[in-house]
Amino acid sequence: MYVAFVTGANSGMGFEIVNRLAKRKDFSVIAGFRSEERSKSLLDMEKSTDNLYAIKCDVNDSESLDAVFAHIKAKFNKLDVLINNAGYGYVAHIEYTQEQHVFEQFNTNVFGPIRCIKLAIPLMRNAGRGHIINITSFLGKMGLPYLSVYNASKYALEGLTESLRYELSMFNIKVSSIAPGLHKTGFANNGAVVQQPSNESYYQNKDKDFVSKVVNSINSGSNPKQIADAIDHLLSTSTNVATTLVGEDAVHLLNMRNELTFCDFERHVSTLFEIEYPTNVGFTF
Ligand SMILES: NC(=O)c1ccc[n+]([C@@H]2O[C@H](COP(=O)([O-])OP(=O)(O)OC[C@H]3O[C@@H](n4cnc5c(N)ncnc54)[C@H](OP(=O)(O)O)[C@@H]3O)[C@@H](O)[C@H]2O)c1
Repeated sequence: MYVAFVTGANSGMGFEIVNRLAKRKDFSVIAGFRSEERSKSLLDMEKSTDNLYAIKCDVNDSESLDAVFAHIKAKFNKLDVLINNAGYGYVAHIEYTQEQHVFEQFNTNVFGPIRCIKLAIPLMRNAGRGHIINITSFLGKMGLPYLSVYNASKYALEGLTESLRYELSMFNIKVSSIAPGLHKTGFANNGAVVQQPSNESYYQNKDKDFVSKVVNSINSGSNPKQIADAIDHLLSTSTNVATTLVGEDAVHLLNMRNELTFCDFERHVSTLFEIEYPTNVGFTF
């Protein structure tokens, strides 16, 4: 029996991933959830699924993670698959970001996965193999305004993934990222922290519709079952895949990024998202 641990499993992609893995009867699936209020569907699924174990887990809290991994060690003494899925988006004009919010964004999206990875490695060594899958984002590969702190956290997680591929292969541990495009999950409605600019903001009339456009695109985005399909595929291929883009938008945008000059790519993105992007910044000093 393989053992998998998935963070952020009560909602969206995490929920679909544990649902899919638990259907594979050769997996025991530990599903980490944080909020009690949003855990009903997961707890209902646990009741009707022999190989699914829901467990309280906040990736910002080392003690909570120590308890989860102690439980996995006591019950299984190994871990085959870790899926770092828990995450949320902080939306703010960089000028108005608050340091605590910036820290919290990195705490969940980057330090959380690092904490889990550190605890997973000894258990993967016990298993003789392992696969760490980090759910990043297409925004770990390209920028968008007002999402700069989220972008930075996802770029960090991509960077972490690429480095660990070298560092952990000697232990027979694969490390991959899945970079989703916009998917219809709780991301915009439950997870996001949106900071409004102050009243005297220089930004009031500029790009004021951008955030609501992104929220609408998420809420009408792709089915998060696509992420479960991608995990299925990753786990069942012997190739050590570095990164998988999921969603037509992610594939389209990142292909464009490879094909166009950087300036043309930025123009394409600003047209697509109707972002004000002045082209008259070609001054010199
Ligand atoms: N949806 C998209 O368009 C999109 C696109 C690219 C990448 N992503 C990434 O996909 C991943 C999953 O997000 P989603 O779209 O499925 O959104 P979601 O439905 O909001 O799910 C996010 C999950 O993360 C959990 N979480 C947040 N902070 C946590 C913490 N400190 N400890 C433990 N769990 C925590 C949430 O738990 P609570 O219910 O307790 O808040 C929730 O279960 C995230 O990493 C996100 O950045 C999403």
